[in-house]
Amino acid sequence: MNIHLTKSQIGLDGVPAAETVLSHVDGERGELIIAGEHVGTLASQSSFEGVTARLWNGASKTSLSEANVRASLGAARERAFVRLPELLPATRGMGIVDGFRAAVAGLRAENGLEHEATIVGAFPVIAGALVRRAKGLEPVAPDPNASHAADTLRMLRGASPEPREVAALDAYFVTVCDHGMNASTFATRVVASTQADLFAAITAGYCALTGPLHGGAPEPVLEMLDAIGSSERVKPWVDAALARGERLMGFGHRVYRVRDPRADVLKAAIERLSADGADLPFAGEVEAYIRSALRKKNPDRPLETNVEFFTAILLDALAVPRQAFTPIFAAARAAGWTAHAREQQRTGRLIRPSSSYVGEMPKASGE
Ligand code: ACO
Repeated sequence: MNIHLTKSQIGLDGVPAAETVLSHVDGERGELIIAGEHVGTLASQSSFEGVTARLWNGASKTSLSEANVRASLGAARERAFVRLPELLPATRGMGIVDGFRAAVAGLRAENGLEHEATIVGAFPVIAGALVRRAKGLEPVAPDPNASHAADTLRMLRGASPEPREVAALDAYFVTVCDHGMNASTFATRVVASTQADLFAAITAGYCALTGPLHGGAPEPVLEMLDAIGSSERVKPWVDAALARGERLMGFGHRVYRVRDPRADVLKAAIERLSADGADLPFAGEVEAYIRSALRKKNPDRPLETNVEFFTAILLDALAVPRQAFTPIFAAARAAGWTAHAREQQRTGRLIRPSSSYVGEMPKASGE
């Protein structure tokens, strides 16, 4: 009784909570393996549909091809579009991040059609509709024959994207589709372990993603870059923020002790997107100064650039409104969440840890 836990115990640091074939994060070496392949290799050689097939096959012992997944996601986007009049009323008066949560919570099984595709297909349709509603525009119908990345951009913008833009979003989707036992995946697995359905599990995953310590960071990254504004303000702005004890968004990670490998994959995607690298120099300056300032502040705790820093720059370069960054992250991560939920359900084991009680004890009788 009354055993106080350490900070690491409270955060479950390094505690393995599942066996998985889906992804592996090596924080010391800065490596991420997704379904048997390094993230950098996947981002240059595979489409989102291809990686999704690997994840779903790993979780459910199926043998789906990239083409199978592409067809089922296209069909699922169409079904989700038909259901928008049913899903959107629950989002009335809400911003994009909250509205997305309300609409996702309204998803449900459709006549036995595969749930994984229903969810992953619906995400960009809902995100597109909310982004366009915020601009006073009608939703754009999906094109079931387009790739998931191409159609996501089309539904956000109402116009066909350029191939280099599609390639950049596809690389982003592949890069962030799964990442070990991160907070949102854990939340998803906890709900799936109760044998609640896939829709409940994924809604929990999205809720966990929205916090700024997880997938809610990229919007604040852009706000930080805007607030810094110019090269001469980098040092005073960063020094003042750190002196106030603030956390700088897009830096630090629970697992990585070296640079997050996804940061470099995304940086390369941004370089390919804007051939002259126009968007990167200022961000690079800010990044370099923050890394050195964090090294000075916490010399014993490596705090490197994480995926969210370059996510913000990539999605901004693709003209995705910053309020939609978290739903677009979710559109990719939903591939991992659905696979993890299935993998967890197959174990049949309820996740039910214990707690250390540090409260009052009842008075002994007679006192
Ligand atoms: N800026 C400034 N200081 C930081 C940062 C940061 N970004 N991250 C950690 N620190 C400091 C902490 O304040 C702490 O200092 P202290 O020992 O003097 O109190 C020290 O580094 C150790 O931090 P921990 O609490 O052990 O770090 P934790 O493992 O909890 O942090 C986290 C991981 C939450 C990602 C953290 O680095 C952070 O808040 N980063 C900013 C938000 C962010 O970028 N989130 C996206 C993460 S990536 C993703 O989820 C997809």
